Amino acid sequence: MKGIILAGGRATRLRPLTKITSKQLLPVYNQPMIYYPLQTLLKAGIKKILIIVAPDYAGQFLNLLGSGKEYSADFSYEIQDQPRGLAEAFIIGEKFIDNDSVTMILGDNIFLGQDFFQKIKDFKSGGMIFAKKVPDPGRYGVVEFGKNNKVLSIEEKPVAPKSNYAIVGLYTFDKRISKISRGLQPSARGELEITDLHKYYLKKGELKVNIFKGIWEDAGTFDSLLRVSNIVAEREKAKALTKPQK
Ligand code: G1P
Repeated sequence: MKGIILAGGRATRLRPLTKITSKQLLPVYNQPMIYYPLQTLLKAGIKKILIIVAPDYAGQFLNLLGSGKEYSADFSYEIQDQPRGLAEAFIIGEKFIDNDSVTMILGDNIFLGQDFFQKIKDFKSGGMIFAKKVPDPGRYGVVEFGKNNKVLSIEEKPVAPKSNYAIVGLYTFDKRISKISRGLQPSARGELEITDLHKYYLKKGELKVNIFKGIWEDAGTFDSLLRVSNIVAEREKAKALTKPQK
């Protein structure tokens, strides 16, 4: 299984913070944001990781993360010139993915108390995504469930969400994903939508949607960035308290 961290975009919502660096390098309490998705992939046992970045601060990612040797992993880098959508990552990463399955995580998505490692390790084929109940589903991709958790619909940032289940930014797909992404048409906002990939696998009856029970934040706004920094700070302090004293 290969891994992709997508850390592109312009992050205009976080200006002026993002006038001098990339969103995914901003601090979340005591670590740069990208450390969190990186640790998530590493904990899932994924060692070959492609980091896709916007051109502006590409060198800063290299300075911070390097070759991956420090993590007993293997990092490579690609540039996404324009924010043309999340699904473009699978086109940019086509050679890297090669004949393997791939898990992509968004560089601003932070998962704590994660319960999906075994599911990623056990993945065989098709597509696998995770959904979590949130108060503001309109900010995200939304899954509507019917009887016996059957998936009825998937919509990207709906104005009238059909459920409170947001799709979190971690996706596992089989080796067909790059070819399928190449066949997508840009949406009305001009992007290759990740939700169109979910819909493709759903139509084929090959999409597995799990419920994510841990803590999840998309740290792309001032409020969510502050919230997740506070959560991490509390967890770090609680950990320090439970450490045996010398
Ligand atoms: C993206 C996806 C959306 C998903 C979200 C998770 O939205 O398009 O389906 O729910 O990430 O963070 P974006 O954050 O790019 O607006």
